Amino acid sequence: MNVSLGSFVGDSQRAPGAPLVRVGVIGDVHAEHHRLEKVLDWLAGQNVDAIICTGDLADGRGCIDRTCALLDNAGAIAVAGNHDRWLLQDRVRHLPDAHRLDAIDDRTAEYLRTLPTSVTLQTAAGSLMLCHGVGENDLAKIWPGTDRSPIERSARLDEIIAAGCIRFLVNGHLHFRVMIDFENLLVLNAGTLKGGYAGVSVMDFAADGVASFAVTDEGPPVLVAEHSLTPTASRRIWRDTQCFDGAWEPLALYARPLGQSSARQAAG
Ligand SMILES: [Fe+2]
Repeated sequence: MNVSLGSFVGDSQRAPGAPLVRVGVIGDVHAEHHRLEKVLDWLAGQNVDAIICTGDLADGRGCIDRTCALLDNAGAIAVAGNHDRWLLQDRVRHLPDAHRLDAIDDRTAEYLRTLPTSVTLQTAAGSLMLCHGVGENDLAKIWPGTDRSPIERSARLDEIIAAGCIRFLVNGHLHFRVMIDFENLLVLNAGTLKGGYAGVSVMDFAADGVASFAVTDEGPPVLVAEHSLTPTASRRIWRDTQCFDGAWEPLALYARPLGQSSARQAAG
């Protein structure tokens, strides 16, 4: 699905229809409406052309109605995650902090029903696919493999890579802010607003960079990592996910405490 960006509320000077230059990237929200409000207020002053969100708006400690209203009012471009799908299908409701379809506003349910599973946007450096997992599969994961977390390959991503039309794929689901370099495609996992590694990122396609910020319940977002969008010589570059070898050092977009291993947080 290609989308119009005319409804975005922010301070960008971008001409209508022009490729995106700066994009605010929000991962799985999981009803963290207080943090979301803070992040959206902050992004409104970051000269971004659009705000994108990887979905999983539902199931968390906060208010799903407020979460959806905030994203809608900000003109954010969001996709549906597996938790949003489960909420609408009244499935997997035994999870902690699961929302109930009969307890949410009609407007919230309608907002969730309108979310696409993937969106393709045009940036100044090539096409960007926004999705939750990989393309239409909201449960798919991509992970080159580390000493403590197994390899996750994706035939669908390999198809996207082979087609050569997508330069950037921004997804969520893993709750782990990292980037994975392929020869012609960059995967940026946007992470989550939930828990102790919450964060937000800004991709700048003219400056060829991404800046990532930690988000907590106190204070404004804090810069914790910066990387180029184009891989440097020190980064592993894969042809496709079939080449993953399990010996990857994650290219982190979060601040890793001293001594922490490269274990991955649980997907959600
Ligand atoms: Fe999630």
